[in-house]
Amino acid sequence: MRIGILTGGGDAPGLNAAIRGVGRRALAHGDTVIGVKNGWAGLIGDGDFMELDRRLFSGILQLGGTVLGSSRTNPMKREGGREEVLRNLGRAELDALVAIGGDDTLSVAAWLADHGGPVVGVPKTMDNDLSVTDYCIGFDTAVSRVAEALDRLHTTAASHHRVMVVEVMGRDTGWVALMGGLAGGADLILIPEITVALDEIIDRLQKRLQSGHDFSIIVVAEGVQVAGVTDQQAADGKVDAFGHAQLSKRGVAETLAEVIEERLGHETRTTVLGHTQRGGTPSAYDRIWATRVGVAAYDLVLSKSWGMMPVVRNGTVETAPIGDVARQQRRVPADLYELAKIFY
Ligand code: F6P
Repeated sequence: MRIGILTGGGDAPGLNAAIRGVGRRALAHGDTVIGVKNGWAGLIGDGDFMELDRRLFSGILQLGGTVLGSSRTNPMKREGGREEVLRNLGRAELDALVAIGGDDTLSVAAWLADHGGPVVGVPKTMDNDLSVTDYCIGFDTAVSRVAEALDRLHTTAASHHRVMVVEVMGRDTGWVALMGGLAGGADLILIPEITVALDEIIDRLQKRLQSGHDFSIIVVAEGVQVAGVTDQQAADGKVDAFGHAQLSKRGVAETLAEVIEERLGHETRTTVLGHTQRGGTPSAYDRIWATRVGVAAYDLVLSKSWGMMPVVRNGTVETAPIGDVARQQRRVPADLYELAKIFY
């Protein structure tokens, strides 16, 4: 068989481990493995492919990013894009395609499966908000990065008696903010699922000051709304091919920091962790699960389970239809949010 692999959407630590999982399993089975470059962009126009031999899977387990490249290209938004994808799959003589990505990338894979494409998926997003799976590749590393950053910010915040507002990724959900904040001992965590009023934030910070804590660390997910703070849309108003604005341009942490400093009269600083959360070496946990779902994806190819993908449930690998991924986002449950509040 000739098996194509693509990685689409934002990169996440562990993608290479997943590529290696699919590829090594396929090579052991005597298949040819073809890398589709830069996500769906590699299947439009003339197509962009690379043959992946055994050497290419060496030394990539611990490597961040994706050796195949990625993009947010959406063939569904391009005139004739759907036909180009189908044509290129044929031209490259691919018997199967493994699409590794989040809800955007997988929504295209679901369309492809519905139109007879031999495709299986692998769920990935450092946001960890795909509803069908308990875990997405990249999340564990991102949480560790946030926790490490908070450790560092604690010492400087304490030395200067400042409020630190730390912005982390999380467009619609606050998994990285909440888990990173829990692990790093944040004094307040703001997530998109729960709108908090500015007065509550100020009240919380004042209470800390009154109880002798003269510094505070606030973790804020980039997609948060704060009642009482004028919302800033993505500065340039641009959206990507899947309709998402670049939320880092909203500058929610900076806006909040300015308001806090004004209201509280306490020196406040902002740190935006940005892409450091998802660049670089994957954690052992991410490597292990990426390897497991990668190998499982190849097994779905073997059984010709088109339109399916491996997911993590209750500590084991199960399978689910790719189409289910886009159905609903997995939001942070209220009890976890309440748990974090115990430590405020
Ligand atoms: O979708 C994953 C994600 O990391 C989001 O949390 C974030 O909003 C977005 O990607 C950033 O994307 P880009 O890499 O295009 O700046």
